[in-house]
Amino acid sequence: MSHFARDVIPLANMGVLILPDAQAVSLAAAEAIEAIIREATATRGRAVLGLATGSTPEGAYARLVERHSAGELSFRDVTTYNLDEYYPISPADPRSYRTYMHRHLLGRVDIAPNRAHLLDGSVPESAIAEHCAAFEGWIASDGGLDLQLLGIGRNGHIGFNEPCGLSVDEARRLRTRLVELHPVTRADAVRDFGSAEAVIPTALTLGVATILAARSIVILATGSHKAGAVAAALTGPITAEVPASLLQSVAPRVTWILDRSAASALPGLPAAWPPIN
Ligand code: PGA
Repeated sequence: MSHFARDVIPLANMGVLILPDAQAVSLAAAEAIEAIIREATATRGRAVLGLATGSTPEGAYARLVERHSAGELSFRDVTTYNLDEYYPISPADPRSYRTYMHRHLLGRVDIAPNRAHLLDGSVPESAIAEHCAAFEGWIASDGGLDLQLLGIGRNGHIGFNEPCGLSVDEARRLRTRLVELHPVTRADAVRDFGSAEAVIPTALTLGVATILAARSIVILATGSHKAGAVAAALTGPITAEVPASLLQSVAPRVTWILDRSAASALPGLPAAWPPIN
């Protein structure tokens, strides 16, 4: 991502871009996504993006829609795969990630509907394993992900790969599958579901192995509630207890884009980073 290399600082061999606020993070993320779309379509004729949901990437999607509406950016040659989906859930459910993606991006740009892929929260239980394997097969047959966009949970999760007691090797081999949501994730989902009882406690998620295989990984975090997870993932040991720390094992392909609050627990940064000009 050479267009913002000037401001990227290295940490654990990963690139870290620290910006003043959430809006700056959204703009930088949108720029990075646009650069990857342009580069991949120029070299391979198409771009394959792994996309994330949640509140963090909303601003980046809004910016991409703006660029599209201004006639500056086309998704004609873009294929997308989403990270996760609640299970069971109807695709038309307003709380589904399919609905989220349609509302924030897919329904507002010129992507071909058959190139926008989400895990299907309505497959029968007996077909989950087959569906997850097929999803990975589609990514592979599209040539793999040019970009995986990620958020980070307060507990350090990526996608719905939750903290767990597996060894690092086992965690790095995790494939796309049905998972149980961690109590912290369920608590944070109350925002979308209205009450703790209404939160769907299980989900389908892309596996750690599939995420780590992306040619480029951009992970976003904003707000002081993410500061602990960000510091643990960037400067703590690589451990399945902090799934985002597994990104350290593919460090050269990873860029973090943080606002000042999310970066506030990183050790060794000047107190007022980034400097105010
Ligand atoms: P958030 O979720 O963007 O809504 O904070 C991030 C995540 O859980 O990955």
